[in-house]
Amino acid sequence: MTSTVSVIGLGYVGLPLAVAAAASGCKVYGLDINLDKIQLLKSGISPVEDISNFEIQSAISGNLKVGSDFSVIENSSIVIICVPTPLDLNRKPNLSFIESAVKSFANSLSKSTLVILESTVQPGTTRDYLVPLISKYSTLTPNEFNVAYSPERIDPANKKWNLKNTPKIVAGVNPTATKQAKDFYSKFVHNVIDCESPEVAELAKLLENTFRYINISFINELSMFCRSFGVEINQVISAASTKPYGFMPFYPSIGVGGHCIPVDPLYLSDKARTLGVQTKFIDLADEINLQLPNFFVKLAKDKIGDLKDKKILVIGVSFKPNVADVRETPAEALIIGLRKQGAQVFWHDDLVKVWKDEKSVAIDQGYDLAIIATAHAYLDLKQIGDTPVIDSRSSR
Ligand SMILES: NC(=O)c1ccc[n+]([C@@H]2O[C@H](COP(=O)([O-])OP(=O)(O)OC[C@H]3O[C@@H](n4cnc5c(N)ncnc54)[C@H](O)[C@@H]3O)[C@@H](O)[C@H]2O)c1
Repeated sequence: MTSTVSVIGLGYVGLPLAVAAAASGCKVYGLDINLDKIQLLKSGISPVEDISNFEIQSAISGNLKVGSDFSVIENSSIVIICVPTPLDLNRKPNLSFIESAVKSFANSLSKSTLVILESTVQPGTTRDYLVPLISKYSTLTPNEFNVAYSPERIDPANKKWNLKNTPKIVAGVNPTATKQAKDFYSKFVHNVIDCESPEVAELAKLLENTFRYINISFINELSMFCRSFGVEINQVISAASTKPYGFMPFYPSIGVGGHCIPVDPLYLSDKARTLGVQTKFIDLADEINLQLPNFFVKLAKDKIGDLKDKKILVIGVSFKPNVADVRETPAEALIIGLRKQGAQVFWHDDLVKVWKDEKSVAIDQGYDLAIIATAHAYLDLKQIGDTPVIDSRSSR
């Protein structure tokens, strides 16, 4: 049977999902409050690296309609929420995007519609927050609609693992919702696994990302040690990686950024605090991560002396290689820290191009120091010439 699906939030998560669902034969409405993005999509241009313009054009000329009119939801049997779940100014979970999304569609929800939450949230959110929220803003009672949680695992710029071949977990607040969600995703995801409850699925997502946060922070701590000790961390990682079991490599950087890895663990620690439980590993990973940009400011001073009026080029400002995403990028704190020391800081990133009203500059040799923050594949680092360099990917 053809499903009619509305995807709310057409970003890194929602857009690939909308395109994949449309390609699988579903009739899809892609909804977003960002009118510029809707305009871009309508003119066949993809705002996301992993989806080509061709894929957008094919989807739009086929089963995908994009817009900002949420009343189309009354024709949808499935509604999927893919809006941001960032931290607020106090670094606490901010669910306001979910609330505003629910407000805009709840009144158009038809009986028996399945609402799936894909945004990363605290454990308990689907059952204890989303279900009451939908019934608060709609005329339906909780037993007249279905709700499931299915966290997105998309890894932008990953050429091997994508929406289709990455196993997807689903869990409804009741068996009907689980089955509906599983049937839907099975149309375009090879392996859909149901969990016992939304709480298990919510926690599984937080476990995955917290695991990365703690391990990347640990490798960055070890990298700081290796700089003092005079050993190249990458040689240590390569040597340890020869062990065929029980070890997984992580690599040094100027810190963890993006909308997920440095954010999601704080959703978990915040929930733990409400239960009086400590999450010391998360707190420590966060502390190490937040101090890293300043560590690199200190390294810059150690390398070229007083930074006042020194010209410094930061290379790569997105949060990870080969994407243009600058959310929570550690490059921001690095640049602020260098400028506080009086340095004239410029940055180069051809993927980001314009950021905070500044433009990417060309890489040349007119700098006192270059700091490689994020090494995109396109970069030709030979252009730095014999400018002194700090490479965040190495401990030398
Ligand atoms: N980016 C990733 O790699 C990734 C991976 C897994 C999970 N997630 C999670 O998925 C969720 C979405 O992340 P993202 O990276 O796609 O965010 P994004 O910022 O790329 O996209 C979110 C989109 O939602 C839109 N939006 C905001 N409020 C809206 C509303 N009320 N109605 C309609 N549209 C609205 C925004 O305009 C934006 O286009 C987050 O919870 C994130 O933690 C992200």
